[in-house]
Amino acid sequence: MAETIPDLRQVPKARAYAELRGHSDAILEGVDDDVTAMATLAALIHHSFGHLWTGFYRVVEPGQLLRVGPYQGSLGCIDIAFGQGVCGDAAAGGKTVIVRDIEKYLGHITCDARSRSEIVVPVFGKRGDLIAVLDVDSDRLNAFDVEDARGLERLVSWFAK
Ligand code: SME
Repeated sequence: MAETIPDLRQVPKARAYAELRGHSDAILEGVDDDVTAMATLAALIHHSFGHLWTGFYRVVEPGQLLRVGPYQGSLGCIDIAFGQGVCGDAAAGGKTVIVRDIEKYLGHITCDARSRSEIVVPVFGKRGDLIAVLDVDSDRLNAFDVEDARGLERLVSWFAK
């Protein structure tokens, strides 16, 4: 396999996500395994953008509980209830949540004290059910915007196919 992780830190976001999509499509060609895809996407997104923490929280009790899945970065919390923290809010609402300053987000769960901003994207499976959320954290304030939301939502649309 010749795929490597690109350095997209200086690349405009729209182009960066398009490039990442090309890489993930090539790597995941013929793959039918959600854990493999989660691990691959976490590594690609994390290292190409130089984020602080990138990973998945899987739905282990629908409507109730998320549990940490494949990720890159320092130790993540194990369990997060629906409606708890940014991940739990994104899971409960089924919508992407962008947090420009985590100190201003009521109920934010701190796993890494360096975290300043984050984005959490819901992940839907083949039956249209919520199977996980993708959580990406940055040590920079205001690191994420609608372009990240769009780009990450397109990347995780892999799980619905
Ligand atoms: N930021 C999350 C907690 C998970 S860790 O940051 C890995 C939240 O408040 O949902």
